[in-house]
Parts: sequence; C-alpha cells; structure tokens
Amino acid sequence: MRVLGLETTCDETAAAVVRLKPDGSGEILADEVMSQIAAHAAYGGVVPEIAARAHVEVLDGLIARALEKAQVRPSELDGIAAAAGPGLIGGVLVGLSAGKGFAIAVEKPFLAINHLEAHALIPRLDGRLQFPYLLLLASGGHTQILAVEGVGEYVRLGATMDDAIGEAFDKTAKLLGLSYPGGPAVEAAALEGDPNRFALPRPLLGRPTADFSLSGLKTAVRHAAMAAAPLSSKDVADLCASFQAAVVDTVEDRLRVALGLYRKQGKLATALVLAGGVAANMAMRATLSRFAQQSGMPMIAPPVKLCTDNGAMIAWAGIEKLRLGRTDDLAAPARARWPLDPRVERARNNKA
Ligand code: KG4
Ligand code: ZN
Repeated sequence: MRVLGLETTCDETAAAVVRLKPDGSGEILADEVMSQIAAHAAYGGVVPEIAARAHVEVLDGLIARALEKAQVRPSELDGIAAAAGPGLIGGVLVGLSAGKGFAIAVEKPFLAINHLEAHALIPRLDGRLQFPYLLLLASGGHTQILAVEGVGEYVRLGATMDDAIGEAFDKTAKLLGLSYPGGPAVEAAALEGDPNRFALPRPLLGRPTADFSLSGLKTAVRHAAMAAAPLSSKDVADLCASFQAAVVDTVEDRLRVALGLYRKQGKLATALVLAGGVAANMAMRATLSRFAQQSGMPMIAPPVKLCTDNGAMIAWAGIEKLRLGRTDDLAAPARARWPLDPRVERARNNKA
C-alpha cells in the first residue's frame, strides 16, 4: 500500500509518499517539505494570505518531486491523503483541493486528514507503538494532552486555555529580539543561561485539571525583561533559560495530572508520546523522559523531522485509515477548527 500525503495547513508546504510494509510499519519513500519561514520572518509570525499564495506556487512541483523520488507512478498509488484542517483556511483549501483533484484524476480513494490526528499517529510509523498512549501535542498552534485509544478514537484530557506552547516560545523570542521561529532560538540561548535567575510563574501548578495557561507566563517574561533592560546577551540567555524551565515544569505537572485522570478512568497508557514542533526541545525531552520512566512507561518522541509539520504524517494517517477500510467523500470540507475529541466539539456547539 502506497499513499501520497499533502500538508498545507500552516507555513510548510509538504508532499510525501509512504509505503505500508507487510510487517505493519511504514517506510517513507519521499518526504518533500518546503518551509515558508523566510517569507514570514519579517512579521515574526505566519501571515495567512502570504502562506496560502506560497502553497499554491510550490505544491504542484513538490508533488511531482515526491513521486519522482519515491519512484512511484500516480497509477501505483493506493490513496491520496490531504490535510483538511485544522489550520489557516486559505492554505488548507490549497492542499485539499489539490488532493481531491489528484484523486479524481488517478481514480484513487481520497482521505481527508485531520492535521492533529496525523501528529498523533505518526509515532506509530515504526509499527511498535500500541494503543492507548498518552500524547502531548505541542506546536505553534496547538497544545493538548490526549489519550490516543485507536484510529479516530481520541480523548482530550487537557488543552491550553490561551496561548499554545510553541506560540509562547515564539512570542518570547520576538520580545527578546531573537529570530523566528522562536523555539529553536530560545532553546539555543537557554543553553548559555541560568534557569534560576528569574523567578517566573508555573501557571496552574498543582491544579486538578490538565489544562494549560501560558499567557501569564508570557507577561511575566515581559515584565522581567523590562525590569532588566537594557538587556545584555547574558540577560537574554538567563531569561530564555528561566522561561524554558518554567514551561518544562508546567508541562510535567500537567502531564502528571492527565495521567492521574486517565488512571482514574481505569485505563493504562502504554507510553508517553511527544508530538508537534515543541517536541524538538531537548530540555523538554530530557525532563519528560525522566517523568515517563518514573511513571513506569517509555517516552517516545519521533525524529525531529517528523515532529514538525510534514507530508509523511499525513500520508501515514491516510494509511492508518485506509487499512481499516475507511475513505472520505470528495465533499469533505476544509475546516479551520477541527477538534479530535468529538465531545469537545459538542460542548462548544452547546455553548454557541
Ligand atoms: O508542529 P509545528 O512545526 O507547526 C505547527 O505549529 O503546527 O510547530 C512549530 C512550533 C513553533 O512555535 C516553534 O517555535 C516550535 O514549534 N518549536 C520549538 C522548538 N522547535 C520548534 N519550541 C521549543 N523548542 C524547540 N526546539
Ligand atoms: Zn502541526
């Protein structure tokens, strides 16, 4: 089984071909990613209109290159998967329309993939990770803790009430004059810094729900930076180290609560899995690996290339659905919002 995967929900345009091997694992035959970071850098964040136009310009070429690298003819594909959300709607429409058009042209099944689901399932690419597992999904746009119980079966245990963790890194970087995207820049600066110099808050620490709130921490960083101004490079490094330590402490505490909530449901997670761009953070990996070990389960973090947005995760999610006999209608809509846990969506609709 071979599936083409297209990703255009944010600022990466990606096309990949993944093959399902007989042993149940996946092999990435091609994984083409074109980042738009340079186009957005001047603005310190992703500009939706610029992103959508950039996807249009490069997607066709990326698909051609992915198929060529994978040495797969379109007629040899078993399915076409495209991210249908959640994300910036202009970009989502570009990839989704391209995927549908391609599926019609080659007369193959179409799969409309939830981008978050793709982040959640890609750690299963090696064929070893079993359901259910506890997932920390932390990227520039999302921060949630999920129990992944099966393909299409997700229980949300906690989520951010304001900023996403990656967003907090990006905003901290911008505030301190570091480059965009902020995560890697803050992490690099933090290596030289003292995490104990600034006493920053650990929001919601000890609360019984597994939700996050990061806007207060962001404000505390701003106040600390203003108080220490003008900032030397040592000040910046210390602020980054203190901020990162606060985030890592918070994440560990929230995961501890989430694990407790899940155990209360009488369920046992097989592993703690990290996904999303923030999972690239080595300080986070080190602390959470220790936490997982103490909790009696392994921590699994896919290679960094698969943690950040890519096409292989969309193709793999397509394979996970296709091998269960699931496909999607060509009428599948592009969705700016698309929670993984249906109960979350129902709760929101009831409120509205
Ligand atoms: O998953 P991703 O590539 O894109 C989406 O947001 O969907 O995640 C990008 C986010 C950015 O906010 C970036 O600053 C953050 O992940 N990030 C990091 C690191 N590398 C990327 N955050 C902390 N430490 C890192 N090393
Ligand atoms: Zn993502």
